[in-house]
Amino acid sequence: MTHYKNILVKRDQLLGPNLPTFYDQPVHLVKGKDVWVWDIDGKKYLDCYNNVPHVGHCHPKVVEAIYKQSSTLNTHTRYIHEGILTYIEKLTQTFNFDLTTAIMTCTGSEANDIALRIAQTITNAKGIISTNHTYHGNTALVSQLSDTNPSSSFSLNSFKRVFAPDSYRLNGSKNLEEYSRNFAQDIEQKINEFKKENIGFAGIILCPFFANEGFPNLPNGWLEPAQKIIKKHGGIIIADEVQPGFGRLGSSMWSHDIIGIQPDIVTIGKPMANGHPVGALITNYNFMSEFRKKYRYFNTFGGNPVSCAASLSVLEIIKEENLLSNAEKVGDYAQKKLKELAKKYEFIGDVRGSGLFFGIELVSDKNAKTPASELTSKIVNQMKDEGILLSKLGINYNTLKIRPPMTFTKANVDYLIEKLDKVLDKTQLND
Ligand SMILES: Cc1ncc(COP(=O)(O)O)c(C=O)c1O
Repeated sequence: MTHYKNILVKRDQLLGPNLPTFYDQPVHLVKGKDVWVWDIDGKKYLDCYNNVPHVGHCHPKVVEAIYKQSSTLNTHTRYIHEGILTYIEKLTQTFNFDLTTAIMTCTGSEANDIALRIAQTITNAKGIISTNHTYHGNTALVSQLSDTNPSSSFSLNSFKRVFAPDSYRLNGSKNLEEYSRNFAQDIEQKINEFKKENIGFAGIILCPFFANEGFPNLPNGWLEPAQKIIKKHGGIIIADEVQPGFGRLGSSMWSHDIIGIQPDIVTIGKPMANGHPVGALITNYNFMSEFRKKYRYFNTFGGNPVSCAASLSVLEIIKEENLLSNAEKVGDYAQKKLKELAKKYEFIGDVRGSGLFFGIELVSDKNAKTPASELTSKIVNQMKDEGILLSKLGINYNTLKIRPPMTFTKANVDYLIEKLDKVLDKTQLND
């Protein structure tokens, strides 16, 4: 305990105050293997949260790829190296649309930052639309996209927000079809405002799964009216696949295919190299040429041979270990089990998700759908004490976010459900 307190004091001194940590009592991890992690006292946790170790913590094939390339050569893209070409060729084969050229970065934030710049370059306009409860990263530009976590005090008149979708409440709409039209109308209103203000409309950036918004349950085609309006006004569609990409949702590599939109630009990151810091932006050759001819863009670490080797190994593992079909099968099983729990506990308002990204929304009044945000926080902490790592998110932070490595098994689901049942039961008794 003394050691633990010392580390927190040292973090404050060396890294500054108000540094985000998970849980009331932060966890000090020292080791990971597949879906398991261990803390400094040897306590073992089932990792039901981390999408970065996509193919499992410390996967030997990724470790080997990093080791092999870093003991041979590491440099940047101003020297020619085939690693980046092999990777981008394989990556772009996974897309169904004209997404054939890429810029590699070190983070998702950088990828989104460039995506906005490309959209503005192509359209010669500035206006960008996002949702009001999104998160697309931490640069001076992209941090301004969100109302929820603005990270500096200036705000840009070239960014406007539309409402974040909420399939559980439908924000006053009668059904999903009406809700979809209302979402599109909200977008058109913002586009018209941009035009009136002489800012012009460059495009929209959204996570097709609306992960940070609480992953609402929206069917294929839901964004169709919005897409029509964006295209009618000449806007660029940027799909931020940083969270739902690389097969996490089970039935496809990319969430834009699942929701049914055709992006002009896709951005990726987090799970791309299983923890090695890599991101990328992918677009068509014409957009890339226009941007590259107009602006010189160079990224010292983006696309280095070690990052490319790590990224390539992840793509290979996803295929070799059949991880998409595992995500679909295990994710369906998990939702079935959660739905059984929902019959038992009145405060489970909604069960939703896709593949290995799922969760439950907790409410204090089922009829009024009143968010039980404090209760959710309590459950997240109690689950940690039970050896299960998960978190919460959504517009009201009352949705349990469960997003384990893609190697998660049905036995792992059973263990998670057993612990969740125990914690929910205790909560019920205490309330
Ligand atoms: C949807 C989405 N986009 C972008 C980012 C930013 O990625 P990074 O932290 O790698 O910059 C995040 C990070 O949480 C994210 O959730």
